[in-house]
This record gives sequence, structure tokens and C-alpha cells, in this order.
Amino acid sequence: MKRFIIAGNWKMNIPPSLDEYRAVLKNPAPERVTAVICPPAPFIPYVADFPDFISVGAQDVSEHDSGSYTGETSAAMLSVFGVKYAIVGHSERRASHFEVDELVNRKTKAALRAGLSPIVCVGETLAEREAGRTVEVVTRQIGAVFGSLSDAERESCVAAYEPIWAIGTGLAAAPEDADAMCAEISKIARCPVLYGGSVSLANAESILSQAHIDGALIGGASLDADAFSRIIAIAAELSA
Ligand code: 13P
Repeated sequence: MKRFIIAGNWKMNIPPSLDEYRAVLKNPAPERVTAVICPPAPFIPYVADFPDFISVGAQDVSEHDSGSYTGETSAAMLSVFGVKYAIVGHSERRASHFEVDELVNRKTKAALRAGLSPIVCVGETLAEREAGRTVEVVTRQIGAVFGSLSDAERESCVAAYEPIWAIGTGLAAAPEDADAMCAEISKIARCPVLYGGSVSLANAESILSQAHIDGALIGGASLDADAFSRIIAIAAELSA
């Protein structure tokens, strides 16, 4: 029986009312679905107080364990506040914070040292896709992070295939294309692989039905409690 991870990445947004959001999530804990919400860092304590079936994730983590790194937050500190997952290498951070593969590898290891599960994001740009370089780019990104991880470390990891052209555009990858890339990623990463990029209530079922897609990393639609909890319910049904 398949297990799913449904993770929401709120980015630098919060729902209009956290209390109303929380109230919508008051449904029974879904079986065989791990639900994660990654809010902006100051809101981590609010999300930690959500119903128990929601795990809390961070959107980023420092590569360092402690020290003079102004503005950074260590994995151990996040763990104190109940954080279980940390997104690393999101394309928005790769693009605007100079996060290269080596740094994503170090952040992944920092998360693992503190017992967090890293959600390692990879994905190609539109130009790379149009040049037929998708597999080359994505397998390089995945290899750079996972190549140095032990089997035990991989057991705590999650990978997320997020084609950059699909993020926030409403143009999700075709489910079969996403599935093929997730299969490639899974061969190297040997951990669950999520798809992210314009996942919505309308397309969640067709995406989650694919054999090599173990869940979704959801931006915009995760800010809508109703849509997010219905996507969790779709995953629960598919896993039954
Ligand atoms: P959207 O679901 O808004 O396209 O965002 C995807 C994403 O970047 C999740 O990390």
C-alpha cells in the first residue's frame, strides 16, 4: 500500500486567518498520509499547535550548527520548536540566495544531523527543458546532494521535483512527464519523491495517481485550508 506526503509551502505568505485555517483541518487524521505545513519561520509555533496530524516544516535551514551567522537558523533550533522537516534548495532560494548544489548538500547534512527530514528540491528552468537538458540538470542536482549520503541518511530524506516553469504559473507538468522525472530521481535518491508546481485541487488526483510520485509539495493551493485538506483526503483515498 502506498504512503503519501502532502506538504504545503506557504513561502512568504500566511492564510488570511490562521484560526480559520486551523479549524478547517479539524478532520480525522488521514491514514497513510503525512501532512506537512512549512510556514514562514515566525509562524512555526502557530503551526506546531495545529492538529497533531500536521507536521511542521521549515522553508530553509542553515548549513551551520551554531555560531556567528546573522539571520540564519540552525536545524537544532528548529527542532526545539517541533519542526520535523526542512525544505532545502528550493528554486526560489537557488535563484535569489545563490544556493548552489554544494550548499544544498551541506544544508541537507545539517538538517540530518539535527534529526530533521530534508525535503530536497530540484527542477529545471524552461530554457533547460526546451534545450532537452531536463534529465541532465535534475540528475546533476540530485546526485550532488544524495551522492554523499548513506543509506540510513536517505531513509530520512524526501526529494521534490519542482520544474521551475511550473511553479506559480498554473501550468503543472503533465502527470506522465512528472512521473518519468520522479522515477529518474528516485533511482538516484532512493527516498520518497514529491512533485511540486501548480498542484491544485483540480489536478491533484491525476498527479498523485502516478506510480513514482509519492506526494506533492504545494505552494499557492496550500494557503487555502479547504483545498489543502481536500488534497490530503484525495491522497488518503488513493492510498487505501
Ligand atoms: P505552487 O504550488 O504555487 O506552484 O508552488 C510550488 C512550490 O514552489 C512549492 O514549493
